[in-house]
Amino acid sequence: MWDPTTYLRYADGEGDSGGAADGLRDHLRRGVEAGDPAVRPPRGEGGGQVARAAAEVDHRARALGRDSGEQVVEGPGALVGDVRHWHPESDVDVVISNAVLQWVPGHRELLTRWARELPAGAWLAVQVPGNFDAPSHRALREVADRPAWRADVAPLLRRPPADDTAVGYAGLLTGAGCAVDAWETTYVHLLPARVDADHPVLSWLEGTALRPVRAALDAAGWADFRAELGVRLAEAYPVRHAQVHFPFRRVFFVARTGARAEENQ
Ligand SMILES: C[S@@+](CC[C@H](N)C(=O)[O-])C[C@H]1O[C@@H](n2cnc3c(N)ncnc32)[C@H](O)[C@@H]1O
Repeated sequence: MWDPTTYLRYADGEGDSGGAADGLRDHLRRGVEAGDPAVRPPRGEGGGQVARAAAEVDHRARALGRDSGEQVVEGPGALVGDVRHWHPESDVDVVISNAVLQWVPGHRELLTRWARELPAGAWLAVQVPGNFDAPSHRALREVADRPAWRADVAPLLRRPPADDTAVGYAGLLTGAGCAVDAWETTYVHLLPARVDADHPVLSWLEGTALRPVRAALDAAGWADFRAELGVRLAEAYPVRHAQVHFPFRRVFFVARTGARAEENQ
């Protein structure tokens, strides 16, 4: 379902001021450095993109990437696999998950399982987009809820996340015995807007949230859907000086397992 070409076009920063890759690199610097890779080489979890970025931050890292989308997994150490079925091996030092868990229902339970199964002193470094209530996603839900699409499209959209705030994740993992550092950043992407092209937020969504919608509709239905969504997005994100400001909130947390138990000894 994933469109890595469209996703990476934005993730690598073409025409914007801070794509997902920037968030990942900021996070890796903070998470992997905190994990003291000099002591043991860390191994990561995530797509090939994550494994590559982890290796860039620390060349001694033995990084394994994991993603359920075959088209995303590439490069040395990258594996196809559903994170819901993954259990950390006993020598994992750092688990990095970038922009994945928002797609995984019940991921709060998954995080507490990983916190329990990881060796004491291991690190979890996670980034999830906090954009469920962004105008882009509200517009998508509004169009999906129109009578023409309610039956086929509305059930394909992401469910409202449970407490997807930095405080929510900090509380969850502190409760699981970790020492947690959590924060949120809103990246304001500056997307170039050309008069002869689709609205840039529509193009962005085509690489992410719109993938399941496109797959579920026939050509005419898809054309109608994206036209209606395009109108709403143009109202929500007006073009100024040939560009659109697209705020994108991301939630980060770094958690060290077993640290609370050590404190209490
Ligand atoms: C926004 S992309 C992020 C890709 C990569 N982690 C990165 O940082 O560039 C979201 C990824 O989540 C993957 N994904 C969704 N559900 C998954 C699951 N249950 N297990 C593994 N990967 C999953 C999709 O295949 C997609 O590649």
